[in-house]
Amino acid sequence: MQTWDNTERYGTVSRVLHWGMGLVILWQLLTVLARVFFDDESALYGFFWGTHRETGLLIFLLVLLRGVWALANLSRRPPSVSLPAKLGHITLYLLMIVIPFLALLRQYGSGRAFEPFGIPLFPGFEGDSIDWMMAPATLFHSWAGYLLFSLIIGHAAMAIWRRRDPEKQDVLSRMW
Ligand code: HEM
Ligand code: HEM
Repeated sequence: MQTWDNTERYGTVSRVLHWGMGLVILWQLLTVLARVFFDDESALYGFFWGTHRETGLLIFLLVLLRGVWALANLSRRPPSVSLPAKLGHITLYLLMIVIPFLALLRQYGSGRAFEPFGIPLFPGFEGDSIDWMMAPATLFHSWAGYLLFSLIIGHAAMAIWRRRDPEKQDVLSRMW
């Protein structure tokens, strides 16, 4: 068991965060697919879409933790294989932070109460919603979400492609 990263391999904490968040984001994709493809009266729609906001909040909290851990390990983790790979990973981080943050801002600005996992996070308020808090997510949330899902598919495809090409350095072994 190796807690911290080293230049050869990501440590246990980084790997648990990477694959654990992978599962949570996969769940988030299922909630979106349920919203798009199922009738909004159906039980499956209610079951999956009913968890979208809570799952998004969980992603936000986990990515903050993961970001702090990544910064603490910056000087020792395996070096990026290329500049595009590095920029791609930074983009994934930015999207994982900005997407739920703007959605939470919109949630607050809507004036509607939000009680994730039964915890009263936003009590809600009377009167008009706050436009400047609602606007960014209304403009960006949905398409930025689809962009994140698409980049993740590209990211996984690159990792598998590198493993299959003997000319390329295998990176899957250092994250697995
Ligand atoms: C990384 C986290 C998140 C991702 C990837 C994500 C992704 C998405 C996507 C792709 C859609 C569009 C679905 C459609 O086409 O019908 C959507 C809609 C929505 N999301 Fe999220 N979401 C996240 C976090 C959150 C959070 C934290 C909240 C609220 C607290 C939230 C609230 C909503 C709402 C209310 C909608 C429907 C309105 C709209 O399309 O903007 N999401 N989300
Ligand atoms: C929700 C899905 C995923 C996200 C958001 C994600 C994000 C990231 C990020 C930000 C990194 C940089 C290291 C770090 O800070 O953790 C990384 C590394 C890596 N990811 Fe993912 N990843 C996801 C899924 C996958 C999948 C499905 C695969 C493979 C099939 C994969 C393979 C890898 C590999 C091999 C590395 C190490 C790359 C290197 O050492 O240069 N990831 N991932």
